[in-house]
Amino acid sequence: MAPEPAYTDEQLDAFGLAREQLAQHIAVIMDGNGRWAQQRGLPRVEGHRRGVQSVRSIVEECSRLGLQQLTLYCFSSENWKRPKLELSLLMKLLRHYLVEERRLICEQGLQFRVIGKIDELDPAIQREIELTEEAASTNDGMMLCLAVNYGARMEITEAVQQIARQVQRGELSADTITEQTVASHLMTSGMPDPDLLIRTAGEMRISNYLLWQISYSELWVTDTYWPDFREPNLHEALKDFAARDRRFGGLHNTSEGPSSASA
Ligand code: IPE
Ligand code: IPE
Ligand code: MG
Repeated sequence: MAPEPAYTDEQLDAFGLAREQLAQHIAVIMDGNGRWAQQRGLPRVEGHRRGVQSVRSIVEECSRLGLQQLTLYCFSSENWKRPKLELSLLMKLLRHYLVEERRLICEQGLQFRVIGKIDELDPAIQREIELTEEAASTNDGMMLCLAVNYGARMEITEAVQQIARQVQRGELSADTITEQTVASHLMTSGMPDPDLLIRTAGEMRISNYLLWQISYSELWVTDTYWPDFREPNLHEALKDFAARDRRFGGLHNTSEGPSSASA
């Protein structure tokens, strides 16, 4: 199967989108799988299963839109609190996803990275992650980043430990630690910060996701459950994003805006 061609400006226009106003990096909290299933009298795992189809659609669509990066919250470090059966089914689905999507990831030329405590996952899953990362290593398309067994507080804590060790060894002086030093010790090192954070299923919270990186991301929450989230929902989020006035603490982007703000 050939990779889906990128959208032309005319196609974007038909969606009500303009290339220069697109978010470059979208992060998603894919929530509501369980509620989607419960609403239909199905076991929760059916929601997760159906959610994989949304992942497929949204990954392809973001790639066609020419995004730089898509970062998906697949499993949080707190999700281990779930029942054993749900956990084993989630891990099985993750493993299948990694195997089944490998070919598609390569056909679409996607870069691929996983952030999170990978070494705590089942060795078979670790192996599949490695294989997919290897297979995608020479790709230069959109970066697909999966957050698996990820928690932002854990990530920041580990970064602090690494920096403290460098100071202890005399390789770094505490006074020279900058925001860049911290960012470069996070699991997202080298990645741009998300421009837009989407959360499905209506909760107005961050659930320990990318706490450092979303400092200035635009937030967009929809009541739609993740298994129902498809291309039109993504376009709606991007249209909303395009209308936002991102000030980064400055003023409006007008003649009286950032350039004259220091006066
Ligand atoms: C998101 O859906 C998937 C994971 C957290 C793994 P949920 O399973 O949290 O679905 P709800 O929030 O219970 O509906
Ligand atoms: C966030 O969803 C984690 C993922 C989507 C993987 P949760 O369902 O775990 O979040 P809470 O528990 O509602 O905060
Ligand atoms: Mg949830």
